[in-house]
Amino acid sequence: MPLHQQASITIGVPNVEETCRYYAEFGLTRRGATFSTTDGGEQLRIVESPTRRLIELCVGVDHPDDVVRVSDQLSGLGVAIEGDPSRVTALEVHSGARVVVRVLPRLTQQPVATEPTNGPGSTHRRNGRAPGILRRGPVRPRKLGHVVIATPDAEASRRFFVDGVGFKVSDEVRGLASFIRCSTDHHNLLLQPAPVPFLHHTSWQVDDVDEVGRGAMTMLEGHPERHVWGLGRHFIGSNFFWYLRDPAGNFSEYYSDMDSITDDQLWSPGMWEPSLRALYSWGPDVPPSMLDPDDLADLMASSHHR
Ligand SMILES: [Fe+2]
Repeated sequence: MPLHQQASITIGVPNVEETCRYYAEFGLTRRGATFSTTDGGEQLRIVESPTRRLIELCVGVDHPDDVVRVSDQLSGLGVAIEGDPSRVTALEVHSGARVVVRVLPRLTQQPVATEPTNGPGSTHRRNGRAPGILRRGPVRPRKLGHVVIATPDAEASRRFFVDGVGFKVSDEVRGLASFIRCSTDHHNLLLQPAPVPFLHHTSWQVDDVDEVGRGAMTMLEGHPERHVWGLGRHFIGSNFFWYLRDPAGNFSEYYSDMDSITDDQLWSPGMWEPSLRALYSWGPDVPPSMLDPDDLADLMASSHHR
């Protein structure tokens, strides 16, 4: 796949410093308003914006030929582009997100050693406690996994990202969501329709379900208002999840064990009917704010004033 990585994002929020402090606590390494993961390097920038939204998304490709192809595809859709042989930039007008496609080295991650587990008839861990309960250090996300954005014209946004940039469709929920990828992750971007554009959530990979739980529990200490939804397991993408709310109202997700699509021929994209099952396999009831954010009325009012 010539697109190989969702390299980085820039998000806009009205309250930059407060939001920066949150993401440092979340486990990202802070340098000013730029944040790094342990495997993916600098992957998040936070800038000021009147409403919370995705400002920029950077996608890595292997070769300048890939940049040319993406440029041609975007131009074919009538999208204005800027660039040079190593990168192309275009604005997706409906979501308001700028997309940068540039030549970047591939991200390689060292495998994390699998810890022995016990099951019926298979006792791989004998005479010892599970290592997952003995961990004490802070949870450090490995990489940026995906971004979910709301767009007033989901069809047009989907055309831009799929036919223009070259994302592949992994699964869809009819009329509600397109799960699309620019790497072997099941999804790197999810587009959902809404009256106004906003950033729904960003998602960050951790080692396993214990890290999902440990990370979220640490964030909730003294801050119960941060809790949104978790612990659970998604049906589409299969990942364990726990969603928290940042001070700007964006959700941030710890995830582990997401489906990986390494051979397009072996994956059958699904078209799922809207239902709770499409949202999750198990977990607590879906909070209303997952479907319609609490600040939707404010977001709509400020979009009218612009
Ligand atoms: Fe997610």
